[in-house]
Amino acid sequence: MNILDIIAKKRDKKELNKEEIEYFITNYTNGEIPDYQAAALVMAIYLNGMTMEETTNLTLAMAHSGDILDLSDLGTVVDKHSTGGVGDKITLILMPIMAAMGVPVAKMSGRGLGFTGGTADKLEAIPGYRTNLSIEEFKNNVKEIGISLITQTGNLAPADKKLYALRDTISCTSSIPLISSSIMSKKIAAGANKIVLDVTYGDGAFMKTKQKAEELASVMKQIGKLAEKETVCIITPMEEPLGYSIGNTLEVIEAIEALKGNIKEDVKQVVLELGSQILKLAGKGENIEENKQKIQDCINSQLAYEKFLALVEKQGGNSSYCKDTSKFQMAQYTMDIVSSKEGCIQQMKASLMGKASCLLGAGRMKKEDNIDMAAGIILHHKVGEYIQKGEKIATLYTNKEDTLKASLKMVEDAILIADIKK
Ligand code: URA
Repeated sequence: MNILDIIAKKRDKKELNKEEIEYFITNYTNGEIPDYQAAALVMAIYLNGMTMEETTNLTLAMAHSGDILDLSDLGTVVDKHSTGGVGDKITLILMPIMAAMGVPVAKMSGRGLGFTGGTADKLEAIPGYRTNLSIEEFKNNVKEIGISLITQTGNLAPADKKLYALRDTISCTSSIPLISSSIMSKKIAAGANKIVLDVTYGDGAFMKTKQKAEELASVMKQIGKLAEKETVCIITPMEEPLGYSIGNTLEVIEAIEALKGNIKEDVKQVVLELGSQILKLAGKGENIEENKQKIQDCINSQLAYEKFLALVEKQGGNSSYCKDTSKFQMAQYTMDIVSSKEGCIQQMKASLMGKASCLLGAGRMKKEDNIDMAAGIILHHKVGEYIQKGEKIATLYTNKEDTLKASLKMVEDAILIADIKK
């Protein structure tokens, strides 16, 4: 067997067998297959798709490319994952709430991908926060404080770690077999026994239509069933950015505010929807509406905020930044975008906002790029709101002054304001 034949087979729209998929994953993970050959195969998969059997084999090969965690001593551990979005800070808010409500949280998060952000990058915006704990520390933290949020540490799904970074830089993110194998391999390796997935669709998601999101959800549920992990999918729209901030530090600040009780409506809806399902899966309440009320009570009690502080401290972060968010280092350059007319905001294209945020420095253009934690965008208004001529719609933040002009154009193009009929 050799990689050239495997690439050619997929290029010619033929089905790969289990051995070929395992050969690719093993040899790409150990460095025998270089990035350029992996990129060719990934592009062929992106263009020609995979059958359910191929996707399942790919997922299992990726999951078994490293260690598989055994969390059975922690009880019913529920994991959550989003298929990606712009301004999606849900994990930072939801998981401390779940931990404060007695659901053990052991979650491995990804980094930014394409124009979407990643929780691991956001957590690292908190000075000192360590996302790369050893497995022993990860498990101990869950035992001691009920929560740990890490990135793809050590030897957990190392194949996904490499493929995820590669896909990000060759425009191969929006593919059902690639997304489902990426997410489910991580979930299988991370050891939780129940999984809740937020499958997003719309302009700011990898799936552009609800139908495609349902297709992706169905593939991931089938993989979950095979891996004996109860998997629930929630389908959520992602046309405009979620909440009011995009970018790592800016989103952390919004998440902290939410945990203190100042939670924005669209963010709250997703938190309640996902959280109520997690509580049900964890055996903490069968009634979804009652679960939503319990979550709201938990936020109001400040217990979730305190859990977040405990998490930050436990993972080496300086929690004084979270207690006083004005301590976070802000970007050197800012630029306001003002409305050129009076009207109603009809559209804020999340993808363009995400791309503008990347350009400002919040995302990676190349695999090895460093991201600028302070870069991003704050929205002052959302779709459906009325705005006066000259009023601020958004503010750009960056440490690279030369990116402001092009980002400004992108954000202006993303926003559509409808005239008010007089
Ligand atoms: N999240 C992941 O972990 N992988 C993807 O491919 C997309 C979103």
